[in-house]
Amino acid sequence: EKIYLKDYKGPAFSVDSVHLDFNLNEDFCRVRAKSAIKQLTAGSALHLNGVDLKLIAVKINGQELQPTEYQVTAEELIIPSVPASFTLEIETQLEPQNNTSLEGLYKSSGIFCTQCEAQGFRKITYFFDRPDVMTSYSVTIEADKKKYPVLLSNGDRIKTEDLGNGRHKAYWSDPHKKPCYLFALVAGDLGVIRDTFTTTSGRKVNLEVYASHGKQDRCWHAMDSLKKAMTWDQDVYGLEYDLNDYMIVAIDDFNAGAMENKGLNIFNSRLVLADSSSATDTDFHSIESVVAHEYFHNWTGNRVTVANWFQLSLKEGLTVFRDQEFSADMTERAVQRIEDVDALRAGQFAEDAGPNAHPVRPESCMAVDNFFTMTIYEKGSELIRMMQTIVGRKGFRKGMDEYFRRHDGQAVTTEDFAAAISEPNGKDFSQFKRWYNQSGTPVVSVLEKFDAAAGEYHLTLEQSCPPTPNQPTKEPFHVPLMMGLLDKNGKELALNCEHITQNTDGKHLIELKDHKKTFVFKGIKERPVLSILREFSAPVNLHWEASEDDLYFLMEKDTDSFNRREMAQKMGLRVLSNLIAKARKGEALQVDEKYINALSAVIRDPNIDPSFKAKMLQLPSYAVLAQVEPVLDAEAFHKARVTVRKTIAKMNKAALLETYRQFHGVEPKSRDTKVFGHRQLKNQALSYLAELQDPEILEIVNKQYWDAQNMTDRMTALTILADSQSEYREKALQHFHDEWKNDSVVINKWFTAQASATSRPDVLKDVMALTQHPTFNLQNPNNVYSLLRAFSANIVRFNDPKLNVYEAYADKILEVDAKNPQVAARLCSAFNFVQKLDPVMKDKALTQIKRMVAAPNLSKNSRELLQSALTT
Ligand code: ARG
Ligand code: ZN
Repeated sequence: EKIYLKDYKGPAFSVDSVHLDFNLNEDFCRVRAKSAIKQLTAGSALHLNGVDLKLIAVKINGQELQPTEYQVTAEELIIPSVPASFTLEIETQLEPQNNTSLEGLYKSSGIFCTQCEAQGFRKITYFFDRPDVMTSYSVTIEADKKKYPVLLSNGDRIKTEDLGNGRHKAYWSDPHKKPCYLFALVAGDLGVIRDTFTTTSGRKVNLEVYASHGKQDRCWHAMDSLKKAMTWDQDVYGLEYDLNDYMIVAIDDFNAGAMENKGLNIFNSRLVLADSSSATDTDFHSIESVVAHEYFHNWTGNRVTVANWFQLSLKEGLTVFRDQEFSADMTERAVQRIEDVDALRAGQFAEDAGPNAHPVRPESCMAVDNFFTMTIYEKGSELIRMMQTIVGRKGFRKGMDEYFRRHDGQAVTTEDFAAAISEPNGKDFSQFKRWYNQSGTPVVSVLEKFDAAAGEYHLTLEQSCPPTPNQPTKEPFHVPLMMGLLDKNGKELALNCEHITQNTDGKHLIELKDHKKTFVFKGIKERPVLSILREFSAPVNLHWEASEDDLYFLMEKDTDSFNRREMAQKMGLRVLSNLIAKARKGEALQVDEKYINALSAVIRDPNIDPSFKAKMLQLPSYAVLAQVEPVLDAEAFHKARVTVRKTIAKMNKAALLETYRQFHGVEPKSRDTKVFGHRQLKNQALSYLAELQDPEILEIVNKQYWDAQNMTDRMTALTILADSQSEYREKALQHFHDEWKNDSVVINKWFTAQASATSRPDVLKDVMALTQHPTFNLQNPNNVYSLLRAFSANIVRFNDPKLNVYEAYADKILEVDAKNPQVAARLCSAFNFVQKLDPVMKDKALTQIKRMVAAPNLSKNSRELLQSALTT
């Protein structure tokens, strides 16, 4: 049932070209595929992938085959004997209108669309559904002219014919060879906005963003983002677009965020549609970064693709890295880095510590679609970032140029990428490559010694990595640690140590390669303060028993702003852990005064940039607590966190109100990064104040809801009210519902606000009632994610020991799984924390996991993820 990287063999056939002809109807779709095929290995039987297809006819060189000349299994069409070179024609019939898996060809709100990555093409026709078979495509699409006026596919628009009988036919041709996972088709009645972009070398590209009629006005931010991304990729990497058209289509029912199909990106509509009354600042930011991500794939993914799906991080890790860097350039680098690291820690570190931990380049799997993980994407991106840190930006650009020089037009591996970066820079990445093969988050322990007499500072670093599934022991990693030493005034000391390197960006690095090593810094007169893992230069957990004084000092004075905020988090964790231990023993909770004073000083400091201040004031998330605490005790977590937030609010009520008033209502429609930051800070001030449950504050919240001139303010208020017992709660929720119930994108916020409430005891009841609500559709992935997945991310309520949450949730997973395995599998990650639960809760969770695994028709996607929770 499993597939293994070690079994990978290159293709036995090559395809010179393929022509696909689609005839779209209400009750069926007929597909004719005509391919020119050559044997690469003489005498090979032809094995083509195909799933859920009705085969009508097979022809070789124009001759129809008899049923005795081929075999059809559940997953393949096998023709034992074929000529050395031949034309293959295959006719299949599909029912897109009944395809609830949302892979292959399906219908969403009356629009035909496709999702072929990873293995959806095999639901369209029998083909070599593997990324290392690249060919050129021509496509014809015939459909009813009235119902489907827009007919799109990849590449160049050749022509459209009116067939006279109410039907029309479009012709497309893609000059670039591609694997079939990049094929796309869209047919429907869509609105469009248009613009153009002229590349450095003078190509004028037509840009089009399609969405359902009436939503065009919400497409302009995506259009602007696309143009920014095109400019950035030219400026930073010298990469230009290579076709005359670039199209983006927004679709309501979409499993993932978006898909980089050549020349025809298909997007989840939540990542396209935005205006200030319907989208939050965070939505605008996500759209900009995902539009850029898909655009960047044109080079890192499409022109250079993956040899097999085990190499997925080759394109995803690299492209996430590129979109993070783009976002850093578009907004504020330090804040962007903080957000990216927060997401990595909350999601990927948990994955790496759980039953489904896997290497960035996995060795085996059951369902290829389960590879679309935070490890492949976000940890993969950290690996690329470490490479850039080691060789410097200039060196990295040199390596990227070399990568495209060597591999343009090819399907390659992570090894090929590492070689292209390291070789032109004269670097040895042989040890570095362990990052691709070993799973788990490494730990780096720090020990310091100051020898005043000798004027020496000794820094001992020791690395280890906890055991993960199938990997009981690990070899040492090559860990780049950006660092500095500060004197008592916060000034950087000169680093006199033979092992410190400086990269081409002038950053000081320790490259830790040994299991344990001591670094000696000479000429140090006074005990210095260490700042290490600056910018989070490696995805590791740092074990460092720094003194409180040093942490507070760094929080205030470090020249690396990432670390200033990191030290605030570190202190926050110490305080919370302490309170959690007390809460578990039933003792009274008293928050450490020094900590409150330090945060109060941040609140009052007028010199800290507002968006950075908002980050400084954030407490460590529940997801982080769940990782660092030995036991996931939801009640204790909640008590501790609320106590700290309340204390901060109480001690700073006036200052927080002042912050709120300073920025509230200022340029409510602006989309400037600075204004985003102001709004973020004042809304954070409001949510701290709301902890006081003071009628005067709730009135301000309620007023903000009703007066809001943008979605950020409205959602902040609604989220606070949804988590309160306030008299204002029902009216606001009702109003939001009535306002947006027919808007498939915005209504999701209403689900999430209710599913994320931590203080209300009734969240389970609310969520289950919402699954029966007329606006909720279990077949729409966004609905499922924004209600059920948001609920599972609500660690406090999801792990309520007094209720049978896991059972209700498991019922929903089974219900979704029967329709859409990919979406169901994403819900399964809710059980990643089972090993952290106390025995009673763990038993409850395992009972449900066993029940799901025993369900007769459970998909292999869900089975793979749940089974591992039982075996580890
Ligand atoms: N390649 C797409 C992207 O990251 C994601 C496709 C997700 N596919 C899936 N089967 N989950 O840009
Ligand atoms: Zn991607």
